[in-house]
Amino acid sequence: MFILDRKLPLWLLSYIFIHLIHTTTLAQPDFLSYFCESAANYTIDSTYQRNLNTTLSTLPTTNNGLGFYNLTIGQGNDTVNSIALCRGDINLEMCRSCVNDSIIKLPQLCPNQKEAIGYYDNCVVKYSNEVILRNTRIKFYVYLANPQNATDIDQFNGALGPLLKDLRGNASAGGPLQKFASGSTSGPAFSTIYGLVQFLPFLVPVPVPVLLSLEDIINRIALYFNGRVGGRILVPMCTFRYETYRFFNQTARANAPSPPPILQPSPPIARPSSPPGMSYIFFIS
Ligand SMILES: *[C@@H]1O[C@H](CO)[C@@H](O)[C@H](O)[C@H]1NC(C)=O
Ligand SMILES: *[C@@H]1O[C@H](CO)[C@@H](O)[C@H](O)[C@H]1NC(C)=O
Ligand SMILES: *[C@@H]1O[C@H](CO)[C@@H](O)[C@H](O)[C@H]1NC(C)=O
Ligand SMILES: *[C@@H]1O[C@H](CO)[C@@H](O)[C@H](O)[C@H]1NC(C)=O
Ligand SMILES: *[C@@H]1O[C@H](CO)[C@@H](O)[C@H](O)[C@H]1NC(C)=O
Ligand SMILES: *[C@@H]1O[C@H](CO)[C@@H](O)[C@H](O)[C@H]1NC(C)=O
Ligand SMILES: *[C@@H]1O[C@H](CO)[C@@H](O)[C@H](O)[C@H]1NC(C)=O
Ligand SMILES: *[C@@H]1O[C@H](CO)[C@@H](O)[C@H](O)[C@H]1NC(C)=O
Repeated sequence: MFILDRKLPLWLLSYIFIHLIHTTTLAQPDFLSYFCESAANYTIDSTYQRNLNTTLSTLPTTNNGLGFYNLTIGQGNDTVNSIALCRGDINLEMCRSCVNDSIIKLPQLCPNQKEAIGYYDNCVVKYSNEVILRNTRIKFYVYLANPQNATDIDQFNGALGPLLKDLRGNASAGGPLQKFASGSTSGPAFSTIYGLVQFLPFLVPVPVPVLLSLEDIINRIALYFNGRVGGRILVPMCTFRYETYRFFNQTARANAPSPPPILQPSPPIARPSSPPGMSYIFFIS
């Protein structure tokens, strides 16, 4: 299941192992990926831990109505910042359950680290002693690729790049509550490529470094994904995914205007959302 992609440039490989450790030792691969930042630790029964407990147990009550959660508790070095963000197309109940699950599992997996991040299919949760929302420094990407190759790689990349750029523009145009876009385009040989892009909401506009790093990835899509029929990039500030089947709900929650939303249940998708084996690769930007 966890395969190293030999196509990656060597300079990337040196970073991969650092982060891969935490994924392969995961007994039950609930998180697609998680990472414990060991630069700062807390001790058992410290104020930080107490604040972390309070923050995580309160975080689920801070939903902005569109699957974004944000809470900061504590003072000085004991400040705990936390956020959670659900994929823009899943319903509120699935979102809650994903967040509920993450806030229990993540501190168990990272038992003394002040900062941790966990990615599920449906949500991402992060907490840190450092500011999260205004911090645009990207420490590393999580990169996942579907092992299947497109039949015509050049044509595939030629269709995929513009789709992702379009979705990037549409997602970043979203308001302060949600920045999510999904859509599709025609690929080679009568195929359809489906894509999804989501940014952390709240920051309006999306910070330039975040937009640029996503643009950079899209511009080098041929290098990173090399004609793979599915792929994802996960960073705290943004995420994208593409597949040749519809992996998202068509009736995605609309980009939010200001008044808080009433969430409509959406029809189930036609195909299972878990793709055939993905290879998991990690690298620092
Ligand atoms: C934090 O704890 C981890 C192990 O849990 C350890 O590897 C790391 O060196 C510690 N970091 C610091 C700054 O002490
Ligand atoms: C925080 O929660 C964990 C897990 O429930 C518990 O073991 C720990 O004692 C709590 N710590 C504090 C300081 O409340
Ligand atoms: C997130 O938390 C910060 C700090 O508490 C607060 O200023 C901000 O309004 C919150 N944002 C949202 C979208 O809830
Ligand atoms: C906070 O942490 C920094 C670095 O670890 C330390 O220099 C500083 O004294 C701490 N501040 C407080 C109020 O504990
Ligand atoms: C789409 O929405 C339905 C109902 O809201 C849910 O059961 C299903 O899991 C969702 N699919 C995805 C891919 O989120
Ligand atoms: C999530 O947790 C909250 C509080 O613990 C609970 O009220 C809610 O029912 C849970 N939601 C789901 C979907 O598990
Ligand atoms: C996809 O192509 C790569 C070479 O680019 C090759 O190593 C790999 O085995 C192919 N995957 C499949 C499933 O055919
Ligand atoms: C992006 O938004 C524009 C304007 O709403 C729409 O025409 C276009 O189809 C969207 N792009 C995708 C890939 O869905």
